[in-house]
Amino acid sequence: MRHLIDFGDLTREEWERLYARTSEIIDAPEQFIDACRGRVSCNLFYEPSTRTNFSFQTAMMRLGGSVFGFADPNSSSVSKGESIKDTVKMVSNYADVVVMRTPWEGSAKAASLYSNVPVVNAGDGGHMHPTQTMADLTTITRLRGGVDGLCVGLCGDLKNGRTVHSLIKALAKFNDIKFFLISPRELAVPDYMRVFMREHQMWFTEVTGLEAVIPQLDVLYMTRIQKERFVDPLEYERNKGIYVLTRRKLERARPDMLVMHPLPRVDEITVDVDDDPRAVYFQQARYGMFARMALLEHLALQPRDEYPAPVEIGTRPICRNPRCITQTEHYLPPLVKRIGGVDCCGFCDAALG
Ligand code: NCD
Repeated sequence: MRHLIDFGDLTREEWERLYARTSEIIDAPEQFIDACRGRVSCNLFYEPSTRTNFSFQTAMMRLGGSVFGFADPNSSSVSKGESIKDTVKMVSNYADVVVMRTPWEGSAKAASLYSNVPVVNAGDGGHMHPTQTMADLTTITRLRGGVDGLCVGLCGDLKNGRTVHSLIKALAKFNDIKFFLISPRELAVPDYMRVFMREHQMWFTEVTGLEAVIPQLDVLYMTRIQKERFVDPLEYERNKGIYVLTRRKLERARPDMLVMHPLPRVDEITVDVDDDPRAVYFQQARYGMFARMALLEHLALQPRDEYPAPVEIGTRPICRNPRCITQTEHYLPPLVKRIGGVDCCGFCDAALG
């Protein structure tokens, strides 16, 4: 693995190696205090973040490395109109690994084409968020002993929730997973995810009600309605507050069900759930830091690629997704990938044509 853009790019063996390393770090963090001594990470955060940015920073610090970057693009040359290509070419002169979050789908993939050092996708719009998935899988594996055979409920904004998309891609690598996709119809998973699940013969059912399915679940993964991704404010108003997990609803859940959430929470889990032993979302954030340590150790020690392969220069976007990075960065090449026999954008996965 050279970059981490989409969890789907990892094999199960690669994930298991990373998980084994994460476990070693959790069990004896003091043995890793010099693992990245002298290495430097650049964190480019074009949109707000608390957990992801802080946990990447602390992960590097706990490995003995250092971090620079921005948490607000207005403080950098991005505000002068610098392209992703130029920004990443620049910072990969200074850093050993680049961690990047943006509101544009496919942006981390775009950056990886031009970077001399590994790029990590820390969230590209409503598309993917693979390192949150590392936190999620670490939590499930540590607390349930494994991932195979679980019945997982994903609840909330499944259309715009990038953590959900990455988690589904990851769970395709495990056996006998059952999904209950719980969302209002207008916030159901994007088509490319549905095609992906069918292609991988994953068992899933889409429902609108949470309470009816709770008793069947081993994991309930709650998510926030992603206000910032709504083009139509009325659509957000219609859907906000639609799912609220309360202590009373939890009474019907299994005694060993995990309640997970990538955080931040708005109102979808009441605070009285926090003290229930099944609520593991804060622990999940801590596991995320350890998983990121394992990832950074793997990537930041890789040799620099002085001469990345030349990239074809594009002229106009072939993808019509208005949130795709190719809409604004027109030099990007016309990348196409097949998902379930359909031609899709190589950056954001949206179907072409
Ligand atoms: C998530 C994100 O940014 O996608 N947060 C996180 O990284 N832990 C979830 C969210 O913002 O709702």
